[in-house]
Amino acid sequence: MKRFSKVVGIVIVVVVLVLATAITLTIGWRPFIGPKARPLSDRTFERTPQRLERGRYLAENFGCFDCHGEHDWTQHDAPLLPGTKGAGANFPLEGLPGRVFPPNITPDPETGAGTWTDDQLARAIREGIGHDGRALFSLMPYQDFRHISDEDLASVIVYLRSIPPVRKTVPKTEIIFPVKYLMRSDPQPITEPVPPPDLSTPVSRGKYLVTIAGCAGCHTPQKNGKPIPGLEFAGGFVLKGPWGTVASANITPDPSGIPYYDEDMFLETLRTGFVKQARKINQIMAWYNYRHLADEDLKAVFAYLRTLKPVKHRVDNTEPPTFCKRCGFTHGLGDQN
Ligand code: HEC
Ligand code: HEC
Repeated sequence: MKRFSKVVGIVIVVVVLVLATAITLTIGWRPFIGPKARPLSDRTFERTPQRLERGRYLAENFGCFDCHGEHDWTQHDAPLLPGTKGAGANFPLEGLPGRVFPPNITPDPETGAGTWTDDQLARAIREGIGHDGRALFSLMPYQDFRHISDEDLASVIVYLRSIPPVRKTVPKTEIIFPVKYLMRSDPQPITEPVPPPDLSTPVSRGKYLVTIAGCAGCHTPQKNGKPIPGLEFAGGFVLKGPWGTVASANITPDPSGIPYYDEDMFLETLRTGFVKQARKINQIMAWYNYRHLADEDLKAVFAYLRTLKPVKHRVDNTEPPTFCKRCGFTHGLGDQN
């Protein structure tokens, strides 16, 4: 009997060790113990007119209120409903793994961010840890925002503090099993300063803007929430909601992408929402934000797009959707890839 329990004991130890190794080598321990988060600091960002202005430019034109606000998504310019700026929403994108609510980030002390510290906001925006310590679902593009420089981050937060407080309770996000646990591995703390971007050439300036605008979040198709390698900026990612069903475009310089764009045409498309005054760009692509970008910034974005690796991937929303074996989505000209 004694010998038997010894064997059982050894078996249990071996099973536990194998499981522990398997977990360490696969999903890691974060799903069980919670996300990696740095401790909060008591830093505060001085409110200066320069920061207010820069923060307004970034927050308004890089989409914070597309998600953290309610829109009439059936209109070509998806207008923000009055009194909902920053007040949160039930984001109507179909196919998410659960119910995702961009929260109220207005300065309302009870239902918004009024009592959160500057560093709570900073950590949420760039590192994906909510004010309450939870891992944020990555629809909140914190993985793109982690490249926002310290000064630009301070500016966004100074501006957020200045928008009108809205009293509105938004339900909590509920992500389904197992994603709800697996996503806890995603946040990575930032412990080094993020220096100002290199704005010395249009290409480097454009790279910064494209990164923090999250263009890749839509233009690189994803599988299980991760970008598909080799299809960077090559489109095909299908976005379904009240705006309709539309696949993102291939915006690389490949012949199947947008080789026919020049700088003027790019500015016109992003400023009017129409390609060559004829083909309407669907409103899930936020041309109505980007149209407010300075000429210099839009030209820089285009200069950077021109340097992308050309990827052959035909996508055309004017053609009937067919299955694409390259990206796994069903989109126009999918069967020709
Ligand atoms: C594509 C949609 C989207 C965009 C764009 C977006 N957010 Fe979010 N944001 C979300 C979602 C969704 C959550 C909540 C995620 C969750 O509950 O797990 C969130 C959470 C947050 C939080 C955390 C709130 C908390 O509970 O601590 C802050 C702060 C925030 N966003 C600020 C911003 C700012 C500032 C911008 C623009 C620079 C921005 N967001 C752009 C979707 C978005
Ligand atoms: C929320 C998702 C989303 C984001 C973010 C986004 N796009 Fe788009 N974009 C789309 C979709 C979807 C289309 C296709 C629209 C259509 O065919 O009606 C598109 C179309 C375009 C087109 C038109 C291509 C053509 O067919 O002629 C250009 C150019 C473009 N995007 C550039 C950008 C740039 C640059 C950024 C970042 C600054 C960006 N997009 C961010 C979803 C997005």
